[in-house]
Amino acid sequence: MIVGIPKEIKDNEYRVGMVPAGVKTLTDNGHTVLVEEGAGEGSGITNGEYSEAGGDLVSCEQVWTRAELIVKVKEPVEPEYQRLRERQILFTYLHLAPLPGLTRVLLEKKVVGIAYETIKEEDGSLPLLTPMSEVAGRMAIQIGAQYLEKSQGGRGILLSGVPGVPPAQVVILGGGIVGLNSAKSALGMGAHVTVLDNNVHKLRYLDDVFLGRVATLASNSLTIAHSIRKADLLVGAVLIPGAAAPKLVTREMISTMKKGAVIVDVAVDQGGCIETTHPTTHSHPTFYVDGVLHYCVANMPGAVPRTSTFALTNATLPYVQKLANLGVSRAVRSDPALCEGLNVFEGHVTYRAVADSQGVPFRPILDLLN
Ligand SMILES: NC(=O)c1ccc[n+]([C@@H]2O[C@H](COP(=O)([O-])OP(=O)(O)OC[C@H]3O[C@@H](n4cnc5c(N)ncnc54)[C@H](O)[C@@H]3O)[C@@H](O)[C@H]2O)c1
Repeated sequence: MIVGIPKEIKDNEYRVGMVPAGVKTLTDNGHTVLVEEGAGEGSGITNGEYSEAGGDLVSCEQVWTRAELIVKVKEPVEPEYQRLRERQILFTYLHLAPLPGLTRVLLEKKVVGIAYETIKEEDGSLPLLTPMSEVAGRMAIQIGAQYLEKSQGGRGILLSGVPGVPPAQVVILGGGIVGLNSAKSALGMGAHVTVLDNNVHKLRYLDDVFLGRVATLASNSLTIAHSIRKADLLVGAVLIPGAAAPKLVTREMISTMKKGAVIVDVAVDQGGCIETTHPTTHSHPTFYVDGVLHYCVANMPGAVPRTSTFALTNATLPYVQKLANLGVSRAVRSDPALCEGLNVFEGHVTYRAVADSQGVPFRPILDLLN
């Protein structure tokens, strides 16, 4: 198969859909990989590294006109719409539900669109969202530690404390992927860590893996109110799949927090789990409410594109290999997780939530393939 890796052109997007190791794996399997010149620049990967791995460096035009399978990071943006070709396979984050314009283009062009975010394992996990949650979870502590410094607007607290001075109190709401990774980082930096979750299995797991060094609490309005009063750093890491995040920390609760405490609401991309949250950007990341510093950047992994690119492509490559080796039809029949990723197929919407959100008919992919 001819696989194409275009340079991302969405504003402030520095990741790339494939690293040289992926190119080598595919070319070793007999596929051709067309890499747009400069595609890896934002992630610190040179053209030379791609060509050494067996990739063909070509223009943007060549990638889109020749490739049968396009591997990207973000959904196509307007200048890319006209480049899409009939029956081309597009493997990327798509987030089609709120994008009727892009959905229409993909349907008209009969593109086969496979969305990273809807690939789902049998246990309900989302393997192509997990790496970004791992990145954001770890970053939340690094960022929180930095904003706790006085010169950055915080309380002037060192997370670890020092002998004779106690460590900072880190409170994490939600003990999923983000929460676990935040706990790991905070513990590693010597903070005192409390995780709240309303799923007791998650709390049991955290208690086991951290050998009791992380305090766990059942999440309810009382435990939340008590915990955040003593927090120096509060991380919002709650998710109810497919729904807006619940506002677990109210405006009134914020007024009980210490002045100069820091909130990193990672769940901001689902509206945030703190009532005072609103989305911010890497160029203007913070604001204060009641003397509490809020950091609510909706695309945190964008700050570390190199790490994020490698983390993402480690997770996407097995699916790319499957698509290239077997073709779409055999690949989705052989892999139910990948099958969940098919959002549009040759003019039909094949993912129910996308069809429902846009009032268009839903067609199960296996019916179409049969
Ligand atoms: N801002 C960013 O750049 C960025 C990056 C990656 C992920 N995220 C977001 O971070 C959020 C968390 O992602 P995740 O991968 O950790 O999800 P996850 O599903 O692994 O974990 C969410 C956790 O929230 C818990 N939860 C649900 N309701 C709760 C409640 N009332 N009280 C306490 N806990 C509750 C769940 O039990 C679960 O353990 C998501 O919204 C995700 O989109 C944001």
